[in-house]
Amino acid sequence: MYTTIATTLTDEILTITINRPDKLNALNKDVMTDLAAALDEVYNNADIKCAVLTGAGPKAFVAGADISEFTTLDKAGGLDMAARNQKNVFDKIENCHKPIVAAVNGFALGGGCELAMACHFRLASDNAKFGQPEVNLGLVPGYGGTQRLTQLIGKGKAMELMMTGNLIDATEAHRLGLVNEVTTPENLLPRTTQLLQTIISKAPLAIAKVIALTNIAALGAADGLQQEIIAFGELFDTKDAKEGAAAFLEKRKAVFVGK
Ligand code: COA
Repeated sequence: MYTTIATTLTDEILTITINRPDKLNALNKDVMTDLAAALDEVYNNADIKCAVLTGAGPKAFVAGADISEFTTLDKAGGLDMAARNQKNVFDKIENCHKPIVAAVNGFALGGGCELAMACHFRLASDNAKFGQPEVNLGLVPGYGGTQRLTQLIGKGKAMELMMTGNLIDATEAHRLGLVNEVTTPENLLPRTTQLLQTIISKAPLAIAKVIALTNIAALGAADGLQQEIIAFGELFDTKDAKEGAAAFLEKRKAVFVGK
């Protein structure tokens, strides 16, 4: 079904692996088409409770947008490419009501770093390297990098990374808050899966609200606290909130149904 990605569904977790290891999983048009379709699956398939994004091979998560597709682009083409892919892939990941986590297994450069940053959070293997080297190509990040890197690590450091094009290793990415955890390459997917299993054992509607409200906070929206009040109230009308309180009081494990 897909030509540039591989997907596997195990225990309600969809693993999406970008699968062009000979090109360090660079994001070409086909990858974008496949990713958009896989995200539709995540949104619409009730058997999928969450997703992991990772890259094939030992070297790269994603080494950026496919530079070989840049040679024919002009202003209109570049604008269309950024707008279309932000909407169909990057914003879709960020705004997904189900958790999507990046397991960064090597180079995450340019669009690769941006893809990881669009995810709800990131784990990295100790060989991972991050950077926004677009200035080396006479460009700026086009898939949300200027906004999400600034949100995640602060303005000064984001400016430095985007202006120098320098790469940072996983330890530095962890120190800056770009990734939540660093582990060995072998442990990367097991540890990511373990965290996701914890998350999907919670009430799905509450998890969806956490994602939406935290995204509102990251945008610095003026009505974030008001939105939180509304969400808090709304959740009391769900079966799962009633089940959560009852299970606590009855000293048993809650069974959530997503309603
Ligand atoms: N677009 C297209 N092809 C890419 C690519 C990209 N972003 N990144 C790597 N590749 C390709 C290389 O062209 C090479 O293909 P080839 O074997 O057909 O020549 C293959 O992937 C392996 O990459 P290579 O450069 O040989 O690996 P390396 O270990 O020497 O270097 C990097 C790794 C990541 C430092 C280097 O590939 C690089 O700088 N890539 C571009 C990063 C970038 O600028 N990304 C932002 C784009 S906006």
